[in-house]
Amino acid sequence: MKATIISRTGSLLEELRSAAEAEGYEVAQALLRKGNQPLSSLLADMGGDLLIVDSAGAEPGDDLVTLEALTRTHPSLAVIMLSTSGDANVLIAAMRAGVREVLQSPPKAGELTDALRHVAQRQQAVPSEAGRGRVIAFMSVKPGSGATVLATNLAYLLATAHQKRTALIDLDFVLAEASFFMSDSHGKTNISEVAKQVSRLDGKLLAASMLNVAPNLFLLAAPDGPEEGYGVTAEQMGRVLEVAREHHDFVVIDLVRTPDATVSMKAIDMADFIFVVLEATVPHLRDLKRSLGILRSLDCPDSKLRLIVNRYDKHVAIELSQIEKTIGLKVDYTIPNSFAEVSESLNTGVLLAKAHPKNPVVRGLREIADELVGKPAGSGHSWIGRLLGEQG
Ligand SMILES: Nc1ncnc2c1ncn2[C@@H]1O[C@H](COP(=O)(O)OP(=O)(O)OP(=O)(O)O)[C@@H](O)[C@H]1O
Ligand SMILES: [Mg+2]
Repeated sequence: MKATIISRTGSLLEELRSAAEAEGYEVAQALLRKGNQPLSSLLADMGGDLLIVDSAGAEPGDDLVTLEALTRTHPSLAVIMLSTSGDANVLIAAMRAGVREVLQSPPKAGELTDALRHVAQRQQAVPSEAGRGRVIAFMSVKPGSGATVLATNLAYLLATAHQKRTALIDLDFVLAEASFFMSDSHGKTNISEVAKQVSRLDGKLLAASMLNVAPNLFLLAAPDGPEEGYGVTAEQMGRVLEVAREHHDFVVIDLVRTPDATVSMKAIDMADFIFVVLEATVPHLRDLKRSLGILRSLDCPDSKLRLIVNRYDKHVAIELSQIEKTIGLKVDYTIPNSFAEVSESLNTGVLLAKAHPKNPVVRGLREIADELVGKPAGSGHSWIGRLLGEQG
């Protein structure tokens, strides 16, 4: 992969060169920018895969106009911009201009390497199938049923074990826990900011708004406060999901528990599957009936629903057959209880599937991931794979 780097400072130019080379880039051009030299005059022979521009000493707005034109004509080019401005407006303008990463100039130790790795991962991870990805929404019937733990770890398995480009969208504007479960770094932006720019939203802007939390796994975080999230309209949500599924194999959504919130309704409407998470107890069964009533009143067909009984222990739980008889739906999956390792993963912020790949909860989720993806040729297709018409 080839890189061009541009800076006004010779020593920084050399630092950028070493960092890019250390990540496997061949530095095709290292250009020292003079005084007021406009960026456009340096980009005449622009090709390759990566451009790192140090904008220190320039008006960031001027460079961004040039970069926007460049990323339009070179859509596969990744741009990393270094800026002395910490202004959030510059960050947003940079995202709009198609810049993938914005760092302080000069960058702090490790930041540039992280940015180079994120960029490389995005360039490698292209959707593996033509057409749109599948949208899978997770809903808990009672607080704490386990929807967020299951959604985040399933997304991780789809992304890493199956190498499927996967987006996790956190629609729980109150707790916003998916973000905490998946990463200790704060997202650059969030769904509310993306919704505000929906008229210009495309794959590039969406990608720039997501946090790359693992290979192939991208998080669109919830806003900092719930009020901000409540401003997102159904129309905006619809467009975000449309773009997300165009650019990912799977879009996993952590829904807020009350499915009648505006954004949840839209997500439910657009979801291919809704995984409803409960425990096999009488109070959960009661709430399950209520949740199903709401889903049905939203015209959500039962054929979309998949029931997961979490923390299942057949010695103490209500019989699955009794649950099925009471609600008239099949229990699709059970996931066992695993208090120590699940708690540890939440305390450390490292996903369970990453920290403990053999954990029984992860084993249960692997089955779901395998079914969603469809088994490799020779082992036959899952019922979900068949339903989606997957080919050999
Ligand atoms: N299979 C499991 N084994 C052990 N503990 C679990 C399991 N699933 C979830 N938990 C624990 O239950 C708690 C709630 O899980 P989680 O936050 O995923 O629930 P939720 O349905 O998203 O809740 P909310 O409705 O509040 O968003 C977490 O502290 C987690 O540690
Ligand atoms: Mg949750």
